Amino acid sequence: MTYALITGASKGIGKCIARELAQKGYNLLLVARSTDLLQAVAQELEQEFAIKALVLSVDMSHPEAAQTIFNFCEQQHLAVSILVNNAGYGLSGKFEKYASSAHEAMLQVNIMCLT
Ligand SMILES: NC(=O)c1ccc[n+]([C@@H]2O[C@H](COP(=O)([O-])OP(=O)(O)OC[C@H]3O[C@@H](n4cnc5c(N)ncnc54)[C@H](OP(=O)(O)O)[C@@H]3O)[C@@H](O)[C@H]2O)c1
Repeated sequence: MTYALITGASKGIGKCIARELAQKGYNLLLVARSTDLLQAVAQELEQEFAIKALVLSVDMSHPEAAQTIFNFCEQQHLAVSILVNNAGYGLSGKFEKYASSAHEAMLQVNIMCLT
């Protein structure tokens, strides 16, 4: 079954894109950390647009996150035809205000995982 995979779908732009794609009839795989928010989005879109919406809670700052998402798609036999690499954020303020681990986590989410 053809799916659109949207990262960062629990809120903001990702949630809006999920709605747009659901409206066009796409089934969805919604990825982010917040399980409750993801489930609420999935339920809302399934009811409104009669599509199938799966959720996967993953912290994309973890190095194995991309493989976890790939494995889930394989296990569920999902044919992903659209990938929306939306999850991300920016640390604000002075660079030195943050521990190197915080910079690494952001790079992992914004660059490594989506690549
Ligand atoms: N809004 C703007 O003006 C703007 C401008 C330029 C670029 N962008 C980029 O556009 C994208 C969406 O922006 P937005 O304004 O919609 O942001 P947002 O409302 O803060 O939403 C960010 C999304 O990314 C997810 N996310 C963050 N860290 C994550 C992690 N470690 N693992 C998995 N998911 C994670 C969040 O879900 P959880 O918290 O549930 O994990 C959430 O669903 C971001 O990449 C942002 O940098 C936005």
